[in-house]
Amino acid sequence: MSGRMVVAGAVTSADGRLLLAQRRYPPEVAGLWELPGGKVEEGEDPAQALRRELREELDVDVEVGTRLERSVELAHDLTLVALWARIVGGEPRAVEHSRLRWVTVDELDEMAASGAIVPADTVWLPELSLRISGG
Ligand code: CDP
Repeated sequence: MSGRMVVAGAVTSADGRLLLAQRRYPPEVAGLWELPGGKVEEGEDPAQALRRELREELDVDVEVGTRLERSVELAHDLTLVALWARIVGGEPRAVEHSRLRWVTVDELDEMAASGAIVPADTVWLPELSLRISGG
C-alpha cells in the first residue's frame, strides 16, 4: 500500500441491505453509485476518517467494523480501502451526493451488470454480495 489512503464505508442495514450513494462529480463518475467515504486526513486512522466522512456526507454516526479484503490502487498515489459499518445515529441523507439508495443483493448485481457502480468499487462485489445475502 502506498501514498495516501481513501476509505469507503460498506454500510449495511439490519435487514440485509447496502447503502449506495450516487456521485455528483467529477464528470467521469457523475451519476454512478459508490460506497460513500473520502480521504484519510493527517493524524486519523481509517476508522476515524470514515466516521468523519459519513457524518459530513450522510449526516449519520456509524460504528465501524473490520476491513474488506480487497484494496484498490487509484491514480494520484491513492489507495482505496473499505470498512464495514452500521448506522448508530441519525437517518442518512444525501448532503454531498445526488441520491442515496439501500440495495438488496439482487439490486446490487443488476446495477453492477449495467455499469452503474463506480469502477474501483466493483472489486468489492463478491464480498458485498456474500455479506448482504447472508443477512
Ligand atoms: O471527499 P474527498 O475529496 O476526500 O474524496 P473523494 O473525492 O470522494 O474520493 C477520492 C478518490 O477516491 C476519488 O478519485 C474517488 O473517485 C475515489 N473513490 C472511489 O473510487 N470509490 C469510492 N467509494 C470513494 C472514492
